[in-house]
Amino acid sequence: MQDTKTTITSISDFEKEVSQGLTDNPKHLSSMYFYDKKGDKLFQDIMAMPTYYLTDSEYEILENNKEEISNLFTGFESFDLIELGAGDGKKTKILLKEFSDQKIDFTYVPIDISDNALNQLQQSIEIELPDVQVQPFQGTYFEALKEINSRENRKIILFLGSNIGNLEHEQAVVFMNKIQQLMQPEDLLFMGFDQKKNPQTILDAYNDKEGVTAAFNKNVLARINTELNANFDLKQFLHWEVYNPETGTAKSYLVSKIEQTVHIKNLELTVGFKQWETIHTEISQKYDDEIITWLAKESGLKMTTSYESTAYGYKNCVFKKA
Ligand code: AVJ
Repeated sequence: MQDTKTTITSISDFEKEVSQGLTDNPKHLSSMYFYDKKGDKLFQDIMAMPTYYLTDSEYEILENNKEEISNLFTGFESFDLIELGAGDGKKTKILLKEFSDQKIDFTYVPIDISDNALNQLQQSIEIELPDVQVQPFQGTYFEALKEINSRENRKIILFLGSNIGNLEHEQAVVFMNKIQQLMQPEDLLFMGFDQKKNPQTILDAYNDKEGVTAAFNKNVLARINTELNANFDLKQFLHWEVYNPETGTAKSYLVSKIEQTVHIKNLELTVGFKQWETIHTEISQKYDDEIITWLAKESGLKMTTSYESTAYGYKNCVFKKA
């Protein structure tokens, strides 16, 4: 893939994000930058942990309903299966296999911020599902919209894993509305939504004892160290998770254990931290039926079907243009 080009563009966005985020008060960094080679691996480790119930629940929904879902998607000549934030594609492969077994004509277009994840995904599909046509696209969700727009075929857009939860409601509406504008009446949007549930279950999912989520959260600092020549001491930051059951918002922070200064050479920037000062890094929004209905209405979409894992509290919803 176009490694050099990709690296150059993403580094300058990364530089902008870091210099803005660490000079703002309160400090913040986008969770988009968790995902490099090490971050991809850490996220895979998270998905394999029983406490991170999201992956198992969505896997179960897809496995139990793959025939019905495949009937929703097919019946037309051919289509593009466009996946936003495809990652390792573990869950999507259930559908890819089903389509491939049924000799359905489609092209899989995985889109992800991580070039590394896309390369691995493409290679594994070539081996496991050699009949499936794959056209990966590296980019942010925003760039993904341009790619979606450029495609002529009928579109099935997958947005799994409750990835939408990284966006605040207003941003989610803007994003879903942009997708809606690119959809034709026969196109479908298939999304995963993690549901509000026992707050302890949510805290446990984002605060595992093994420290994998902590390492994942701190990976943004590790990236600043290696890619921007900085000297963050990762041990001097604490991973902290909060969940507000009223709003359904889980938030991740990095908290400075001590008063310290960090130098970021490539930005010629020195950043001071007071003891217990925070960097906000991620939101993982949880939903209920009212919020999902509201999001759809605001975005000009209508829900046509949904699938639920009641045991885990997780939903996959299918939307059409309203
Ligand atoms: C990939 C954004 C869905 O928010 O649950 C996992 C990322 N962060 N553990 C999520 C994540 C901490 C995940 N998403």
